[in-house]
Amino acid sequence: MNDPEGAPAFETVDLARSYKLEGVSVDALRGVSLRIDRGEFVAIIGPSGSGKSTLMHLLGCLDRPTSGTLRVNGVDVATLDDTGLAELRNQAVGFVFQSFHLLGRTSALENVALPLVYRGVGKAERRERARRALSAVGLAHRLDHRPSQMSGGEQQRVAIARALVGDPKVVLADEPTGNLDSRNGQEVMGILADLNSARGVAVVLVTHEREVADLARRRIHVRDGLIELDTAHQDGDGRPGRDAL
Ligand SMILES: Nc1ncnc2c1ncn2[C@@H]1O[C@H](COP(=O)(O)OP(=O)(O)OP(=O)(O)O)[C@@H](O)[C@H]1O
Ligand SMILES: [Mg+2]
Repeated sequence: MNDPEGAPAFETVDLARSYKLEGVSVDALRGVSLRIDRGEFVAIIGPSGSGKSTLMHLLGCLDRPTSGTLRVNGVDVATLDDTGLAELRNQAVGFVFQSFHLLGRTSALENVALPLVYRGVGKAERRERARRALSAVGLAHRLDHRPSQMSGGEQQRVAIARALVGDPKVVLADEPTGNLDSRNGQEVMGILADLNSARGVAVVLVTHEREVADLARRRIHVRDGLIELDTAHQDGDGRPGRDAL
């Protein structure tokens, strides 16, 4: 697949998404233009219903825009059919949802190995890579547990391991700490921060929590389907503009 070296992780121009609901159109995103480079750590914040999850789903290639342009690793998603979009999603992006989305009756190891099945990786290598990803999030001792036999924090770490197993360039996390107590939330944030600093993986996360947003080098405020403020354009160097909140 075309993957120009040095292309930004994401580039959007006037990105919009409307949902049609019983003949009524809901404009969830109304024209978002942004650029997120490889290796960045970005928090997306904003009121409930402002379009954060809609934006994350578009960036993660789980959904298509109604209008506007989206390039992921330099590839314009409009040029891809559904198979191409699924391939891009599988290879470039790891996605962590608030509600984990794990298979309940399947072991942690198999949950994490699943994305590799779609890539045609052999069983032995799948298991080995899943084991390494689970070790990286501190779960080497829980490989055979099912999600129902794990704590919320452990389940969230399984979801992160699953997002990491394919070596993505970007991890998108929609309220990854939303269902966790503060200790587990801190642990999950520590894993994401390490991933960003040690492996250069770009992290884009949605959060309602100020302490979590403060850990990000850049914050994008979304309101009514538009970017209200982007700290990258505030102080120019990507460092936190702490008075921005
Ligand atoms: N599948 C859908 N069909 C119709 N409307 C939708 C759909 N998904 C989201 N919306 C609407 O689009 C708007 C943006 O929703 P979105 O889920 O992006 O908000 P959010 O910022 O993630 O909110 P929250 O913080 O509550 O998760 C909301 O008004 C929502 O009701
Ligand atoms: Mg949401």
